[in-house]
Amino acid sequence: MTSISLDPPVATDTVLEVSDLSVAFPTEDGLVKAVRGVSYSLKRGETLGIVGESGSGKSVTSLALMGLLPRSARITGSAKFRGEELLGKNDREMSAVRGKHLAMIFQDPLTSLNPVYPIGKQIAEAVLVHNEVSKRTAWDRAVELLRVVGIPHAEQRVHNYPHEMSGGMRQRVVIAIAMANNPEVMIADEPTTALDVTVQAQVLEALEAARTEIGAALVLITHDLGVIAGHADRICVMYAGKLVESGTVDDIFYRPRMPYALGLLGSLPRVDEGRDARLTPIVGTPPSLLNLPPGCPFRPRCPLAQEVCDESEPPLAQVEHGHLAACHFSDQLGSASAADVFTVTSIDVDTDEVDVASTSLATDVADVTEEGA
Ligand SMILES: Nc1ncnc2c1ncn2[C@@H]1O[C@H](COP(=O)(O)OP(=O)(O)O)[C@@H](O)[C@H]1O
Ligand code: SF4
Ligand SMILES: [Mg+2]
Repeated sequence: MTSISLDPPVATDTVLEVSDLSVAFPTEDGLVKAVRGVSYSLKRGETLGIVGESGSGKSVTSLALMGLLPRSARITGSAKFRGEELLGKNDREMSAVRGKHLAMIFQDPLTSLNPVYPIGKQIAEAVLVHNEVSKRTAWDRAVELLRVVGIPHAEQRVHNYPHEMSGGMRQRVVIAIAMANNPEVMIADEPTTALDVTVQAQVLEALEAARTEIGAALVLITHDLGVIAGHADRICVMYAGKLVESGTVDDIFYRPRMPYALGLLGSLPRVDEGRDARLTPIVGTPPSLLNLPPGCPFRPRCPLAQEVCDESEPPLAQVEHGHLAACHFSDQLGSASAADVFTVTSIDVDTDEVDVASTSLATDVADVTEEGA
């Protein structure tokens, strides 16, 4: 008789599932709708990039699921870690999750490090919080973690105080602390924003080494699409508290279907194009999240806007398999380049600041949409 062996039930690959997450802050001036119905899922070992201008709700989204927002915040929706709801957990319950299962890395390492203790002690303490091991074992693990994040002479540097290290080295220490308990998810919120370009690359490498070593999934938050390019599997673009486009790196970089994402691409200096790189910056600023008018929030800055854009906010809808975009005219984009939609300006790539004020928008909407159609 042949015996039939049944496979065990397939374990879900999804470690984090955020559904319709909204966050509002009551203020003296009214309700600030900082996050409006954000949904995304994160698979084991995957890197998700979240990109958007300052104030688009990237940090608030992550702080909400880490239980780190002020009590006044009104949070609705759901954020599940391995199927377990995180929203509504009390401080004690969240402390058991933070660090052990979900770890966060912030922009400024000095806010995460204690100036009065050597870094080795701080990493070892992170290990000891969630594990019953000896101090010696925790210290050895601290040295090992420093090696993983690429700190040379780790067995000596482990005795250093934070002020004895450079910004890039300090951020690596913070990454070492984040990975101390092999969390399944690491959330890095603008981890390289305060650093210069060369150091940025080293810190991103350290983050990647950490992620690979422990097999964690990573949410990499940045305002700079360039940071994400070589590091993310999928990208979510945020604007005015919402996801306005999401897809694979190729979807976003080669077939963006929402003018804002296209504009972000056009604002990226391309080193391969030499000193006379042509940029197409997005003019204007994001809207206030107090009393958002009806319609598409990108409307005042969008060269493709038409009447319908004033009337209704486009939903985030599928434009191709796994690729979502929120634009009434997403079907007319895809093959359009940033230069088709936004006005081109020539700049010297060595210049840090782009003179946005001196540019104007391409307003011949008909030309662009006909071309794309
Ligand atoms: N505690 C708070 N009270 C009121 N508004 C807040 C608070 N925290 C954040 N905000 C507002 O929420 C919006 C989103 O902020 P944030 O998530 O920090 O943006 P990002 O990280 O994308 O730069 C901003 O308009 C910000 O001013
Ligand atoms: S919906 Fe209209 S305003 Fe909004 S991005 Fe699309 S074209 Fe522009
Ligand atoms: Mg932020």
